[in-house]
Parts: sequence; structure tokens; C-alpha cells
Amino acid sequence: MCSTRTGGRRAASTGFEMSGEKNIEFNVEPGGSLQGSIRVPGDKSISHRSIMLASIAQGVTTISGFLEGEDSLATLRAFRAMGVQIEGPEQGRVVVQGVGLNGLKAPVQALDLGNSGTSMRLLSGLLAGQAFDSELVGDSSLMSRPMRRVTEPLRQMGAEIVTTDAGTAPLRIRGGRPLRGIEYDMPVASAQVKSCLLLAGLYAQGRTCVREPAPTRDHTERMLAGMGYGVRQGDGVACLEGGGHLGATSIDVPADISSAAFFLVGATIAPGSDLHLQHVGVNPTRTGVLEILKRMGADIELSNQRLIGGEPVADIRVRSATLRGIDIPVEQVPLAIDEFPALFVAAACAQGRTLLTGAEELRVKESDRIQVMADGLQALGVDARPTADGMVIEGGPVQGGTVDSRGDHRIAMSFAMAALRASGPIRIGDCANVNTSFPGFVEMASEVGLGIER
Ligand code: S3P
Repeated sequence: MCSTRTGGRRAASTGFEMSGEKNIEFNVEPGGSLQGSIRVPGDKSISHRSIMLASIAQGVTTISGFLEGEDSLATLRAFRAMGVQIEGPEQGRVVVQGVGLNGLKAPVQALDLGNSGTSMRLLSGLLAGQAFDSELVGDSSLMSRPMRRVTEPLRQMGAEIVTTDAGTAPLRIRGGRPLRGIEYDMPVASAQVKSCLLLAGLYAQGRTCVREPAPTRDHTERMLAGMGYGVRQGDGVACLEGGGHLGATSIDVPADISSAAFFLVGATIAPGSDLHLQHVGVNPTRTGVLEILKRMGADIELSNQRLIGGEPVADIRVRSATLRGIDIPVEQVPLAIDEFPALFVAAACAQGRTLLTGAEELRVKESDRIQVMADGLQALGVDARPTADGMVIEGGPVQGGTVDSRGDHRIAMSFAMAALRASGPIRIGDCANVNTSFPGFVEMASEVGLGIER
């Protein structure tokens, strides 16, 4: 990660990289603009997959740009607990000694995946195909998230997995069950479910095909292909045959567009901003935030577009602009699924009404992002009305005030950016989980001009 400081205020605080610290608060001064050039940390989805696939590949994989956040570290620790030798991370560099598809060892205790839904859902598929039993647990948010979406299709493949009666973790996975390939029509557009089933499919007899109702992020398919594992894709279906092997490789993880999103919104809404974001992953299954912001009138330019390790990457320049409210096209929802907390802040600062529909999935993320964002926006005097599957926001003045992020990293960072347009300071509670996806957020945001203190 590198950053170039070109002015702006510095936070008095130092890092907040202490996981488990519950009562971290952000205090953000109103106003200011964002200026400079930064590279936000590595992509979370790609970081998870890099550890998982490198671990079951044959040979040594070197990863650079790895996200050293709590979520991807939970995945890394899980594979260490299954006997994989992993060096690092050190400044984003990780070296994984792959053990091959059948070389993982039984963990001695339950694998604790913290706040990370991606770790739990993808691992459930991979572990269903192992010879040993395993158990997956996490924090209170993760233990209340729906897991039937993965356990039901895995059972159809022959897996044996026990959940609570509510279909939540702990997941107890019985090893030694022979898996068979299935053709599965996903009822929700979920990259986690698709990836879970493709990982189980590596261990299954015959062919596993997953059909998605709308395009979702395809990092698993791209990385499998990059490691020499054939994946057939087309017409919304991804298929693979079980029983092949993965070749070690080197993986360069781009900066996370989901982390860049806070800065895209911040620089757009703060007058006088001009910000460069380097080496951002712009995989077309992730760029809904760019499309939506541009439709609202944002001034966003991509340059130096290139393909790195099979993933599209670009540098992005964003300057302040006057936004107008829009009806968000429903087909953009899965392509911007993690960016709605930030987009709601953009909508609050736009002229006119923004309407989001078809986004009921937001209710089962790290928090209920429709309710928690609506509560926070209302606390800042914004006319935000939650609906069953989205939100209606009337743009207008943003006041200072106190909001509760409910331990949701993306909500905490979104409200931090709202301060750029607020008439008074914003105090944000329960921010420790920012470290799950964006270690160093406070430092980087203050470096480019946000008046934020921890
Ligand atoms: C992810 C997929 C998305 C996203 C999550 C990461 C992934 O979840 O919200 O943050 O890495 O596959 P769903 O698959 O549940 O939509």
C-alpha cells in the first residue's frame, strides 16, 4: 500500500488495529475536501480466494497486495490451522506452500471466522469435500447470518452439515462424505453461494453447474482459470468437473473498489476535491458503484486500464460534482451490493429523490444495512425512508449528530464521509470492525483531508 500526501489535515490518532476492541468511536469534523493520491488496501474477495486456492494448489504461490484486514486474516488463520504453511503477510506479501486438493489436515478446534461471511460460506463448500470433520463459528453478527443458502445445495451434493434450527452457524461439517456434482439454480444472486458450490465441485464426482439469476462477482472463476482449472462460463452458468488439480501461481491483488467507494463518494460530495485512487480493481462484476455515481452526475475518470493476473485494474480520478437523485437500476444492485451504505450518503447529498429497490439482500449483510443506514441518516436530519427491499432518500442538508454503526465496517466509513457535507461534527459508534476490511482507514482518510479522529 502506498500513499502520497498532498496536504489536508492529519488525525491526531495513530492506528486502531486492535481487533476485539469494542467501543471504538470515530469523531469527524464537518467540511473540508479530499485531495491527493492513495492506494486503498487490497481487495477482500480476491484476498480470501487467494489463500483458499493457493492452499489447495500444488506448489508455492506468492501473493502481493493481500488485504491485512481481520476478515482475510481469518481465512489465512483457518488454513494455517489445517496445516498449510503460510509466510506473512508482510506489507501485503504472502507465500503459501500449497498442499494439493487432498492435503489439508483436520483442525484441532473449531475454525473461528470472526465477522467474515465470505470465509464461512466459501469454506463450507471446500470443507464438505474433505476427509475430516470440521466446525465453523464466528462473531455474533456472523452467527446470526443465513447459512441455508449454502447448506441446502451442499446437502443436495451429498454433504452432511448441521446448523442451528434457524439455519445459522455453528456449522458442523461431517468429513468423508462422497460429493456428486449438481446443476443448481441459485434463488439469490450470490457470489458466495456460487463460489461455495464451485469449491465443493472440485471434490465432487462429475460436473457441478451453478446458474445465477443476475451477474455476480466472478473472482473465483477467474482465479481457478488462472491456476489452470477449467471453468466453463456462459449464459449466467459456471460449470466445472471435479477431480482436477490446481497449479500454483503468483497473484497480484488489486486495491478494493469497495474500499475506494468511500473516497469516490467523499470526493464527489466535498466541494473542491480532486483525488486519485491507484490500482483499483474494476472487474465489471464490481463496478456498479461507478455506474450509479456517474448516472447521478459524478465526475469520475478511469485511466491506465490493464489486466493484472486476469483481473481488470485502473487508476481512478474523482473530482467534486453536483449529484442528482436517480432511480437506481435494479440490474446494478448485485454489481454494487457492498457499496450501498456509501451510495446512500451520496443520495443524501444529491438534489432530489433517490430510490433503491430490489436490494433486500442488504438486510442480511454484516448488519441490516437498510435499517441501520436509515436510522443513521435520520439522526443527521436526512429524509430517508426504509422499505422492505431498499430505501427512498430525499437529498438535502446533512446535520451533525451521533450515529451507531452497529459494528458494521462499511456503515462506519460511510458516515465518516458524510461529515464532509455536514453542518456539525459526526460521532460514529462501534467502529472496531472497520479493521475487518480497511486497516489504516483513519490514517488514510485524514491524510487526504478528512478531519477524522479515533
Ligand atoms: C462476496 C460476495 C457478496 C458480498 C461480500 C463478498 C464474495 O456477498 O456482499 O461482501 O467475496 O463472494 P453475497 O454473495 O452474499 O452477495
